[in-house]
Amino acid sequence: MLLKDFISRARTSLSSLYGPEEAAAIVSSWCSDVLGVRPHTHIVYPETEVPEDRQPVLEAGLKRLAAGEPLQYVLGYAEFYGRRFNVSPAVLVPRPETEYMCRILIEKINSSGGIFPDLSVLDLCTGSGCIAWTVQLAFPSASVTGADISDEALQVASSQPFSGPSPVFMKRNVLERQEMSGLGRFDVIVSNPPYVTDKEKAFMSKNVLDHEPSLALFVPDDDPMLFYRAIADFSAGHLSSSGFGIVEINEAFGHETAAEFLSAGFSVADIYKDLAGKDRFVFFCR
Ligand SMILES: C[S@@+](CC[C@H](N)C(=O)[O-])C[C@H]1O[C@@H](n2cnc3c(N)ncnc32)[C@H](O)[C@@H]1O
Repeated sequence: MLLKDFISRARTSLSSLYGPEEAAAIVSSWCSDVLGVRPHTHIVYPETEVPEDRQPVLEAGLKRLAAGEPLQYVLGYAEFYGRRFNVSPAVLVPRPETEYMCRILIEKINSSGGIFPDLSVLDLCTGSGCIAWTVQLAFPSASVTGADISDEALQVASSQPFSGPSPVFMKRNVLERQEMSGLGRFDVIVSNPPYVTDKEKAFMSKNVLDHEPSLALFVPDDDPMLFYRAIADFSAGHLSSSGFGIVEINEAFGHETAAEFLSAGFSVADIYKDLAGKDRFVFFCR
């Protein structure tokens, strides 16, 4: 089978799910991963053949992609903060907004003037552990903890392929006050909790809805603050006096989310925008 024929067929089979450029980029990434070819190999060397032993792998991935599975699940990894994180359908595919939150967080810690000699960081709703690991790798001597309710997600978080000090991952239900109360104090609390309301499902793409875990995404329409209320309440009792926190938020609820942190007793709850200019994070401190 010629590579160019596979690419043309693969793009066609993704055309009902993605626009032409996105379909081409997905097919290119998949071919690059399986065959080690570059994006223009099939144009510059149209005679390139797909080795027979790679054809079943290539076709199996195409079948999953054509069924709407996100590329990252098919690859088994996602790029985040310049690294490759293992992902499976048990975890949310890490998003660029979350990567931006890590950047803000790391800059805040770096500019804090050494007030955290034994830096401790808690990542609530850790999923793949992308936030916890990114902070741990930026501050190797820090004590980083990641908590999630899902055993499968915790398994993914614990098996990321990085060496050196590792975050500690533990099972916790953020919404259960009693269960959370045993955790100690932290200098930094960060979270990207579920924040999409059920009614927003109508505007979401089918591949997210059908393949990413709904446990990671949704909150009831009548209680969009469910997780932020619990995180604000927990943080009020568990954030060190000079500590700070940051949470990723639903762009529609910037002021409501900030209000949760103010009413939990924080004197600062600032809304930060993402790179698209949307309200996306709330930064809080005492
Ligand atoms: C939006 S995902 C974020 C994952 C990861 N931190 C990221 O940014 O890619 C939310 C995570 O919250 C977890 N979760 C849902 N309900 C939870 C609960 N009650 N307590 C703790 N974690 C929960 C899900 O399993 C999921 O991994």
